[in-house]
Amino acid sequence: MRIILLGAPGAGKGTQCKNIVAGYRLQHLSSGDILRRNRSAGTDLGKKAQSYMDAGDLVPDRIIIDMMSEAIREAPLAGFVLDGFPRTVNQARELDESLAGDGAIDAVVNLKIDDSIVQARMTGRRSCPKCGAVYHIENLKPKTKGVCDHDGAELVQRPDDTPEVVANRLETYHRQTEPLVDYYKKNGTVFDIEADRDPDEVKACIFEKLQTLVKL
Ligand code: AP5
Repeated sequence: MRIILLGAPGAGKGTQCKNIVAGYRLQHLSSGDILRRNRSAGTDLGKKAQSYMDAGDLVPDRIIIDMMSEAIREAPLAGFVLDGFPRTVNQARELDESLAGDGAIDAVVNLKIDDSIVQARMTGRRSCPKCGAVYHIENLKPKTKGVCDHDGAELVQRPDDTPEVVANRLETYHRQTEPLVDYYKKNGTVFDIEADRDPDEVKACIFEKLQTLVKL
């Protein structure tokens, strides 16, 4: 199964991808996580991406397309979930071309959320620098405050989760990424999911939709 998770920053893409990959044994391919790993490792790619990410702007298409094409090539045959890619119509077209003849995208899961909810989610997010687990100081607390449940690492706040940068990320999303919803509605299956609900309810709704693909 090949799935794309679409949605604004903070819609819950990363949170729900973890559920989907566990439930369907797929590979999680997150463009944001790959970029952050490159930044931590000090690679050329990480250095090129840094200023765009810190400002809440998109990293140039060519850099992202090359990076994600390589990740997809290395993904196991069982399938993958794309999180944060594609993010522009140009990226989507290149993805379609690269997958042509090799099985297309089965469905797009579109997490719908109001901008007003996003700020609180982002500024309250904490993540594990070791395993990438995502928490929230109110909505999804770790068992011990500030510590990852899985590996005991100290949780950190992302540098692009400040109110000013989040505002720019939202504006960037509406201008450059939201048009992808129509792009995929014209070209394939889109499951619209209301994401302003309890994470378990969102998960149940996504799984109900994905089951329809398994039965096909
Ligand atoms: P990226 O890392 O992809 O960030 P994003 O898309 O802005 O999404 P987030 O990771 O911030 O949010 P999410 O939807 O995954 O939400 P989460 O599950 O964490 O990209 C970062 C940057 O990299 C970009 O700005 C850009 O510069 C660059 N980049 C990446 N891909 C690119 C591309 N393709 N092209 C160009 N540039 C690219 O949840 C958020 C919080 O809410 C958490 O605390 C969580 O616990 C909580 N939460 C989740 N679900 C719920 C719920 N249902 N109820 C209450 N709280 C919830």
